[in-house]
Amino acid sequence: MSFVNAQTSFETLLQRRERAFASTYTSFYAEPLEIVRADDVWMYDSTGKAYLDFYNNVPVVGHCNPTVATRVFNQLTQVNTHTRYLTRNIIELSERLLSKVPAPLDRIIFTCTGSESNDLAYRIAKSVTDNEGFIVTSNAYHGGTAALVELSPSLCGIEGVGSNTFLASGIGEMPGKFIESVRAALVSMEGRGIKPAAIFLDSAFSSDGIHTHLGSELKIATELVRAAGGLVVADEVQSGFHRFGTTMWGFQHHGFEPDLITLGKPMGNGYPIAAVIGNSEIFDAFCKKSLYFNTFAGGNVAAEAALAVLDIIERDELAKNSSAVGEELRNGLIQLKNRFALIKEVRGEGLFFGVELQEFGAHQASQNIGVLVVEDLKVRGILVSATGVSNNVLKIRPPLTIKSSHVSYFLERLEESLTNHCREKVE
Ligand SMILES: Cc1ncc(COP(=O)(O)O)c(C=O)c1O
Repeated sequence: MSFVNAQTSFETLLQRRERAFASTYTSFYAEPLEIVRADDVWMYDSTGKAYLDFYNNVPVVGHCNPTVATRVFNQLTQVNTHTRYLTRNIIELSERLLSKVPAPLDRIIFTCTGSESNDLAYRIAKSVTDNEGFIVTSNAYHGGTAALVELSPSLCGIEGVGSNTFLASGIGEMPGKFIESVRAALVSMEGRGIKPAAIFLDSAFSSDGIHTHLGSELKIATELVRAAGGLVVADEVQSGFHRFGTTMWGFQHHGFEPDLITLGKPMGNGYPIAAVIGNSEIFDAFCKKSLYFNTFAGGNVAAEAALAVLDIIERDELAKNSSAVGEELRNGLIQLKNRFALIKEVRGEGLFFGVELQEFGAHQASQNIGVLVVEDLKVRGILVSATGVSNNVLKIRPPLTIKSSHVSYFLERLEESLTNHCREKVE
């Protein structure tokens, strides 16, 4: 078999993929996109068509950012070793990140992926509390390791979660419902003779349909868990690095205090680097019983990528951009909501929005409206995705480098798409 080359037709490539890949691999689209190039907020397919990327949060400072690329390349040609030697840039990165979290959190452990970070947080929580119970939201996703599958009902269904995993429902529904659900989970644990090791919260509630304005619910719910002996884990894999605007972390936006923060996805703009941040007391207690080492985690090239991300966010004032351009996006989405009954709700903060769609007019309940709009926007040169239990929430999460002109372009295409799917306007 020959290697994939420019002569390989789209169909052949697809067949080769199907022959080679295990069935775990899916495609975002009915007809997969062959992406050959990307630049800042644009991705290009093999026909040369450009797509405005309103989906990918990993390239937080833009696809193929030249500063990140140059620094990664230069570091690769200098040294790339691990944390058992004393090297400068990984220490600088540790200090930079620790200066950006609340004071009690003063130590960091590096990993390579969000899953590794959450898996380590899971181990730490069990080890330092000596407890067994975990609380997660009812459609949570926290990663793909054996332990995390048991904390990820969105992956394995409610039946697949661990016997010591307790699901808290009601996030973003009636005020107070989530708190009641966490309280009920704690009562259920007690009934089973176990105590909480931790509550894991994806601060964006991405797979639960994106919920960002929850008042004091998370503060109250997390305090209940802490009072019962459990740790609070803020999973910032989605919401970290100014996704929500000027606040660097999602938990700051929500106003709750984590014991452990887990980082991932955007941290290296696509170069794998992730971390767990906590305090020395908790980490020391864990390290008395067990240790953690990860060959590739905290290597110098990864550190350089992450330092470049922090530098670019500061240099280009991307936190401010996330808030300001995010507000324009919110206003535009709300205007569309006021015009199209297809839109039930617009939720979000900074540059992370969920647009909840509802069946309307000519649409049959069997049609998956979220998927239809995602496919239609692809034809119009826009990339978004769908999330939530019923896949009816458009997931809008562009690189933080987007500008007002991109927002206008996106809103025009979305308006066309909504008109295509829902000619009946409210007015
Ligand atoms: C909230 C959340 N936590 C953890 C993960 C796992 O991260 P990774 O795929 O890097 O292992 C994801 C991935 O989508 C995520 O969305």
